[in-house]
Amino acid sequence: MAGKVVAVFAVTAARIDADDPLAGLETGERPEPAVPDGWTTVQVRAASLNHHDVWTLRGVGISADRLPIVLGCDAAGIDAGGNEVIVHAVIGDPDAGGGDETLDPRRSLLSERHDGTFADRVAVPRRNLVPKPPALSFEEAACLPTAYLTAYKMLFDKAGAQPGATVLVQGAGGGVATAAIVLGRAAGFRVWATSRSEAKRERAVRAGADQAFPPGARLPERVDVVLDSVGKATWAHSLRSAKPGGRIVTCGATSGDAAPAELARIFFLQLSVTGATMGSRDQLARLARFCEQSGARPVIDRVLPLTAARDGLAAMISGELFGKVVFTAGAAAGPAG
Ligand SMILES: NC(=O)c1ccc[n+]([C@@H]2O[C@H](COP(=O)([O-])OP(=O)(O)OC[C@H]3O[C@@H](n4cnc5c(N)ncnc54)[C@H](OP(=O)(O)O)[C@@H]3O)[C@@H](O)[C@H]2O)c1
Repeated sequence: MAGKVVAVFAVTAARIDADDPLAGLETGERPEPAVPDGWTTVQVRAASLNHHDVWTLRGVGISADRLPIVLGCDAAGIDAGGNEVIVHAVIGDPDAGGGDETLDPRRSLLSERHDGTFADRVAVPRRNLVPKPPALSFEEAACLPTAYLTAYKMLFDKAGAQPGATVLVQGAGGGVATAAIVLGRAAGFRVWATSRSEAKRERAVRAGADQAFPPGARLPERVDVVLDSVGKATWAHSLRSAKPGGRIVTCGATSGDAAPAELARIFFLQLSVTGATMGSRDQLARLARFCEQSGARPVIDRVLPLTAARDGLAAMISGELFGKVVFTAGAAAGPAG
C-alpha cells in the first residue's frame, strides 16, 4: 500500500434525522471513490453548500438504504489531465430527456445515488466536466453548478423575460436568491427582492437589487416575473405581485410546499406558473462564460475548510447566511490519477 492513497477525507450523511439534521453528519475517511466506465476523478479544490445537503440529512429526496453517502452537489477542481474544471451535478442521459438531461426520468444529482463532492476527490461522468474560466476562482466556480445554474435557468430559460423587465426575488439571502439578484442585475433586469431580515435587505441592494422589501410588502407596482425558492411562506405574495400575464418560476419550498394554489387568481390574471430544476451541462458552460464576460461573481458568505462543514451546515439551518458557503479541500494533493 506504500505511496498509494486508499482513502479520502469526506463529509457524509450517515443517518437521517428529520428534526436534527446534524445528528446524522459524519466527517472522516472514506474509501477512494470507485470510477465506473466513462467516469473520471476530480481533485476537489472547492465545494459549495446547498440546501439540498440539509434536505438529504433530513431524509427528503433520499431513502435510508442509500446511506452512508458523501454529501455535496457542487465542486470545482482539477481533472485527471490537470485541467481546471467545474463539475456538473446532474447525472443523467440527455437522450432519455429529449436532449436535456434534467428531463431524464432517471436523473439524479451527485449525493443522491452517487457519492457527492464534499471529499478530497469525487468520481463523475466525463461529460459532466465543464472548463473553469481562469477569471473565476475555484471558490467562485464551485458556487455555479446548483444555485447559480438553477437561477440562470429560471431567469433566462423559464422566465421568458426581456432585459429591462422587473423581476422579484423572494428570500434574498439564499444561495439561489442571491444568484438571481447577481445574474439578473448583470443581464439588465430591474431586480426587486424580499427578505425577512433588514440586514439582508441592505446586502441585497449592495449585491445588485434595485430595491428590497420586507416579506409580503406591497410593491410599487406589479412585476413581470417572480422567482420563488421559499414556497409556503412567500407563495401568496408571489401570486399577488405578478402583473396580469406575468410569470412565477418556482424551484424550491424551503418553508414548506402546502401553499394554496389560488387557481382563480392564476386563470383570471392569466399567470404562468412554471418549475425549474437545475440546468443542462451546456447551460452550465454558458453560465460560466456569462460570469466571465459580464463580470458577475457569486456572492460568498464564508469560506471554510471542508473539515468545518458542520459549522457551515449549522449556519444554513439557522438561516443566518447571505449567499453561499464554500468549503475548500484537497489543496495539498496533486492532480487526480
Ligand atoms: N429545483 C432545483 O433544482 C433547486 C436548485 C437549488 C435549490 N433548490 C431549492 O431551493 C431552496 C433554496 O435553496 P438554497 O440553497 O438557496 O437555500 P438557502 O441558501 O438555505 O436559502 C434559503 C432562503 O429562503 C428564505 N427562507 C427560508 N425560510 C423562510 C421562511 N420561513 N420565510 C421566508 N423566507 C424563508 C431565506 O431568505 P431570507 O432569510 O432572506 O428571508 C433563505 O435565505 C431549497 O428548498 C432548495 O432545495 C432547488
